[in-house]
Amino acid sequence: MLAGRDGLIEAWDVVVGRAAAGNSFQPIVLSGLRGVGKTVLLLSFRAHAREAGWPIELFEARPGGDLRAQIAEALPPMVRTVNRRWRNDERARRIGRVAASFARAVQASLIRSGFRLEIEPEPGVADSGDLETDLTELLVALGEGARDEGVGAALLIDELHEVPPQHLSALVGAAHRVNQDRLPVVIGGAGLPPVGRVLSEARSYAERLFSIRPVGALSPVDTRQAFNGPARDLGVDFTPGALDRLVALSGGYPFFVQSYGKHVWDLADDSPIAEDDVALAAPRANRELVDSFFRPRYDRATPTERRYLHAMAALGDGDVSSADVAAALGHTQPSRVSPQRDGLLTKGLIYAPERGVLAFTVPHMAAYLRSRTDQ
Ligand SMILES: Nc1ncnc2c1ncn2[C@@H]1O[C@H](COP(=O)(O)OP(=O)(O)OP(=O)(O)O)[C@@H](O)[C@H]1O
Ligand SMILES: [Mg+2]
Repeated sequence: MLAGRDGLIEAWDVVVGRAAAGNSFQPIVLSGLRGVGKTVLLLSFRAHAREAGWPIELFEARPGGDLRAQIAEALPPMVRTVNRRWRNDERARRIGRVAASFARAVQASLIRSGFRLEIEPEPGVADSGDLETDLTELLVALGEGARDEGVGAALLIDELHEVPPQHLSALVGAAHRVNQDRLPVVIGGAGLPPVGRVLSEARSYAERLFSIRPVGALSPVDTRQAFNGPARDLGVDFTPGALDRLVALSGGYPFFVQSYGKHVWDLADDSPIAEDDVALAAPRANRELVDSFFRPRYDRATPTERRYLHAMAALGDGDVSSADVAAALGHTQPSRVSPQRDGLLTKGLIYAPERGVLAFTVPHMAAYLRSRTDQ
């Protein structure tokens, strides 16, 4: 049970139901900051589709990685599911052959191998070497087979914003084609907030093709539920005051909820957990958050990039203008500090909600930066 995410999970179930019934559907792409719970939602999506009998794989796009190779790596488990579950053997075998073709064309250009599919390929299908053509042929084959079996199939890609633009363009093109043909193949995923823009830049129609769903902090009611639910299962309660403190401290951000929840749980020795337990646990949770969430990201920035981060943090908690950051660093021309800005964008520490505007990808990062005493 994921607190506060019923709406998104229901939306996914609707996609699965509509796709399998041959109706039109909009694949879901989750968009949110670090630690808001995108990946656990994708895991839940995968579990629901599996329950519906779908072959579905989830993988994480690596920065600068090769999408062809990653999709090829995801194919063997899908083929295994198809072989095990589909009623029509020849239909299932064809998916294996097309997958082998796709993988073979990829392997030709693969340095790092490690992928095995011991099936004879189907020559002339999904093996041209052009990613969009091959992916489309693969997804069409998968979609036609799934449709005839009365199910669907899906590929979920986490960190979707990391897929290189030309690969993303091919992916969106192939997803569009199967969608137009009303084939039950869902290409979805999750990424940092620029993901919606990155998809639209890859193909202008991406905005209409996908349903981009923001994932944010939990509401106070849902945050209480996130603390209460697991405890109640074990016969433990919180006092209302303790819950109020936990809601305020965590800001409803799932990663913070987990950390405060864990430490308060470790420290409290009887039910109900009260405010003094929270007071005792908070410094430990904060230390853990600094060590595991904030500092490792800060450490990835160079010294000049760090100055840029501190200038952003000094301007406030929300979106800031890049011209103001440059001015705060003593430059009238923002271009003087664009190398730092670009470095931080590439490292995924900040993003641009719109032109000339910047924000942190990590919740509460500004407060963390201001709290550092070494600056
Ligand atoms: N609704 C929720 N209720 C309680 N805990 C949650 C919820 N959603 C996520 N979590 C927990 O929050 C933490 C972060 O979740 P997750 O890794 O899915 O975030 P993410 O958005 O994928 O982060 P990142 O951008 O860093 O990959 C995990 O420990 C997860 O179990
Ligand atoms: Mg994640």
